[in-house]
Amino acid sequence: MLVIKKIGVLTSGGDAPGMNAAVRSVVRSCVYNKVEIVGVLFGYQGLIDGKMRVMNARSVNNIINKGGTILKTARCEEFRTEKGRKKAHDNIKKNNLDALIVIGGDGTFTAAMIFQKEFSIPILGIPGTIDNDIYGTQYTIGYDTALNTVINAIDKIRDTAISHNRLFFVEVMGRDAGHIALNAGIGAGAEEILVPEANMGLERLLDSLKRSEKSGKSSSIVVVAEGDKTGKNVFEIASYIEKNLPEYEVRVSVMGHMQRGGSPSCFDRVLASRMGVYAVEKLLSGESNSMIGIINNEMTLCPLDKAIKGKSEINKNLIRVSDILSI
Ligand code: F6P
Repeated sequence: MLVIKKIGVLTSGGDAPGMNAAVRSVVRSCVYNKVEIVGVLFGYQGLIDGKMRVMNARSVNNIINKGGTILKTARCEEFRTEKGRKKAHDNIKKNNLDALIVIGGDGTFTAAMIFQKEFSIPILGIPGTIDNDIYGTQYTIGYDTALNTVINAIDKIRDTAISHNRLFFVEVMGRDAGHIALNAGIGAGAEEILVPEANMGLERLLDSLKRSEKSGKSSSIVVVAEGDKTGKNVFEIASYIEKNLPEYEVRVSVMGHMQRGGSPSCFDRVLASRMGVYAVEKLLSGESNSMIGIINNEMTLCPLDKAIKGKSEINKNLIRVSDILSI
């Protein structure tokens, strides 16, 4: 078995609150285990450009509470090319890195798997994305914080919605997954929730909002995931409803990237801390080509190909819960 003396850590893809806590955990676990640790800047781009810095326990002081990622991140096109990956591997050799820990989402893991196959370098992934859309883990780092950011924002929108008797459409992130929309929607008491996994249809949405209005609701909130399946964007949906439900004044609020920022919740900090320690321990014990996950509160390993190909399903029962509670 290869003896790992030096590990590189990077964050890649969309940033997520708690990535810093994960970096801190990886760095300190390496120091604890007497393994050298190098931070790679700007994700895979930093491997290609040789942007790396040696880290120690003090390099990660005072970051557990910080959003974003001190290592910076990027969605790296060059790493999709063989030439780019070859450059990255040359830099890995030059810097004597024996293994990598990559923190990110499915794009990050797909790249890791290809790289691992080409150059046989041991790699473990840590899931960091607000979308929670990764198979092989019940939670990704950043998801819980994003949910709290969304419900705090919707609570504020509710104040103004009530004051004006308005119907608000709130768009949240999630191109392919409705985890944020569904859970934040229930948490914020939304009337309706549109997710990519189920096509509610505009007619049913209209009927439901008409019913709500008739039952005495003077304002309402509809949460719409970016990738919902009506085939219309949030502004088009809102304008269709406004035309057909003149009883309400309609407004749209797009939450956008504010969902990705902010101080991580305690849940995300603890999750990131546990995953970082586990990733270093597993790499040192010879594991590779896998992603760390959390299932029933236990740390687990899932092969990268499964994590990429598998689908992280929403809990369909939550749709029922939302329907019952939004009468
Ligand atoms: O994957 C995380 C995510 O925030 C998605 O929810 C969103 O669709 C996407 O990233 C936005 O990406 P970018 O910041 O590159 O525009």
